[in-house]
Amino acid sequence: MSILLVTSSPRGAASHSTRVATDLAQKLVAADPSNSLVVRDLVAKPLPHIDPDYATGIYTPAEARTPRQAEVVGVSDAVLDELFAADTVILATGFINFNISSTLKSWVDHVARSGKTFAYGEGGPKGLVKGKKVYIVLASGGIYSQGAAVQMDHAVPYLRSVLGFLGMTDIEVIRVEGVGMGADAVTAALAKATAKVDAIAAATTGQVAIAA
Ligand SMILES: Cc1cc2nc3c(=O)[nH]c(=O)nc-3n(C[C@H](O)[C@H](O)[C@H](O)COP(=O)(O)O)c2cc1C
Repeated sequence: MSILLVTSSPRGAASHSTRVATDLAQKLVAADPSNSLVVRDLVAKPLPHIDPDYATGIYTPAEARTPRQAEVVGVSDAVLDELFAADTVILATGFINFNISSTLKSWVDHVARSGKTFAYGEGGPKGLVKGKKVYIVLASGGIYSQGAAVQMDHAVPYLRSVLGFLGMTDIEVIRVEGVGMGADAVTAALAKATAKVDAIAAATTGQVAIAA
């Protein structure tokens, strides 16, 4: 299994999403020594915002691109290569102003490519990224999985929509939520998320054992 871990928190070592997502990635790797892990840290190495050279370059044949178009489309190509090479994708993000982090949004912008990850045909749009398991690890100050603030969660519905549009429909969400509500809430949120990580890792180990 090839695992791609994408981290995007602006909070560095204090990030709960990075911590839980890394824990998941490491436990999945440990489940089978043949598993591999690629980490894309979108804060250490931010992807450029898409710009006019990108928006025109992706619709220009490779041999006709200007050097600048080739450069920015090349960034997207590299990100796409990583995505297509992965069986399992772990996306880690903090809940920032009611949505995903802007660095992860840039990743989405580079990944959503007409003719590469989606296409329009007679039957309408078709996602071209198939067979991936996706885990979303979302850390938030408030609670958005239930209660009055559910409608303010523009992160999980957005990611489910855009990833689903690209063909990635097997999505599991791990929330580390309510971390803005005091130390006890942080402890409880991390314990809940870690229990889910352990259950996922155990299920994966079980699958490996059955397959063997
Ligand atoms: C700039 C900024 C904006 C934030 N916006 C929200 C928000 O809209 N709603 C919320 O519940 N928490 C918000 N938070 C709190 C984060 O979701 C929380 O700190 C979470 O742990 C961030 O993820 P991380 O730990 O992976 O960095 C915000 C935090 C920062 C730094």
